[in-house]
Amino acid sequence: MCPSGGVTSLRGVNATEGRAKVNQGSRQLSVVVCGAAPTANVGVLVRRAQERSWTVRAIPTPDALSFMDAAALESMTGNTVEVGYRSPSDVRPPRPDAAIVAPATFNTVNKAALGITDTHALGVIAEAIGRAVPVVMVPWVNAPLAARQPFRRSLAQLRDEGVRILLREDDAAALPFGLDSSDVDGFPWHLALDIAERG
Ligand SMILES: Cc1cc2nc3c(=O)[nH]c(=O)nc-3n(C[C@H](O)[C@H](O)[C@H](O)COP(=O)(O)O)c2cc1C
Repeated sequence: MCPSGGVTSLRGVNATEGRAKVNQGSRQLSVVVCGAAPTANVGVLVRRAQERSWTVRAIPTPDALSFMDAAALESMTGNTVEVGYRSPSDVRPPRPDAAIVAPATFNTVNKAALGITDTHALGVIAEAIGRAVPVVMVPWVNAPLAARQPFRRSLAQLRDEGVRILLREDDAAALPFGLDSSDVDGFPWHLALDIAERG
């Protein structure tokens, strides 16, 4: 997928404006987005990270693609949106200095905890954890899914491996974002970046 010359927009972010301001800073931030509503607004995180001198690479799961405008994101980041695994002959992208997984679906949280890497996004998460790179995850699930034991166990396992799990309150018993769809506007993009920067 190549950067588009077209004028497309993420919600609340003008892609043409974003492209003119692309900042390739010295620190590499991998942003994994999943198949849930807040993915449409990931431009908010990209712009804030660029203001803080991060070079951003966007890594959607395949199911995230229908929630976002990949061409707009390529314009903003100046980098190819990485959906599938690269070919062996392709140049390896730079290793991230930090990774943010937001929104993190029930599916991706559980797979990441188990060490499954059947998408490029999961591979990025798995390697970042293994390299002890700061990883911040913002789960976004509804109430029935938040109540499931596999999900609660996955969060605990990921925490044990050093992943920072951002919930409504930073406490194992706290509830995740996404229980109420009105949460979309209050999605904690900025807080996730603050935590990633603290390492
Ligand atoms: C309209 C729509 C909204 C969805 N919202 C959520 C959600 O908020 N949280 C969630 O965990 N899954 C949600 N899903 C389901 C995920 O997209 C689905 O489990 C998908 O397989 C996740 O893949 P991924 O984890 O690779 O992105 C939604 C699906 C659709 C079609």
